[in-house]
Amino acid sequence: MKLILTTIPLITCFSLVNGECQDPTVATTGSGIPLRDRFAIRTVGCRGPVPMEAAEFLDDQSHIDRERIPERIVHAKGFGAKGFFEVTNDITKYSAAKVFSSIGKKTRVTVRFSNGFADKGGADTQTDIRGYSIKFYTEEGIWDLVALNLRVFVINDPKLFSSLAHASKRHPTTNLMNATTFWDFLTLRPESTHGLMWLFSQTGFPCSMRNLNAFGINTFRER
Ligand SMILES: *[C@@H]1O[C@H](CO)[C@@H](O)[C@H](O)[C@H]1NC(C)=O
Repeated sequence: MKLILTTIPLITCFSLVNGECQDPTVATTGSGIPLRDRFAIRTVGCRGPVPMEAAEFLDDQSHIDRERIPERIVHAKGFGAKGFFEVTNDITKYSAAKVFSSIGKKTRVTVRFSNGFADKGGADTQTDIRGYSIKFYTEEGIWDLVALNLRVFVINDPKLFSSLAHASKRHPTTNLMNATTFWDFLTLRPESTHGLMWLFSQTGFPCSMRNLNAFGINTFRER
């Protein structure tokens, strides 16, 4: 497979017909369904409450509600690119998805590249996990895919994720990084140490964002 990207500015809305962007001025839901009227909301009576069935409105609100302070979460720092995905090998025996249906087929994509732990002002060059999220605008709908440039994940139990993030980010009171919490967390269980060994190999400082591998490790991790 090959992923060809150009750096053109991100736009926020698409109207998709057969996987093609028809009109960038049409707003859609988060899953790509065009909205006829972005501001029309169903209510119970003319001044009544908004019912749960107002799905487009709830979709919009849930994005606002879940906005967080990016510096305390992972992958706060990144940038985007647009391009296309082209099928170069036949994998139809593994997948029936139309995006893979024929060699040479192209599908538009938007990719967000990010550092895992760097925060605002952090260096692009620091030893870090790199990740990316890709939106494939396919004729069957928008397909979201995430990947990391790391072969093994640093935790197995998903419950530890918030501890990992907080151990490796600035403390909210002091605004300082804390080497004690970082090294304690990452050396006190074998899978974390294993991930750490990969991070401090060449993997942790790729040549550029064009030289990344994509491992679906956070998708496939298990206990
Ligand atoms: C770092 O974390 C440890 C363990 O929670 C704590 O004892 C220490 O005071 C912290 N250091 C700083 C500089 O915040």
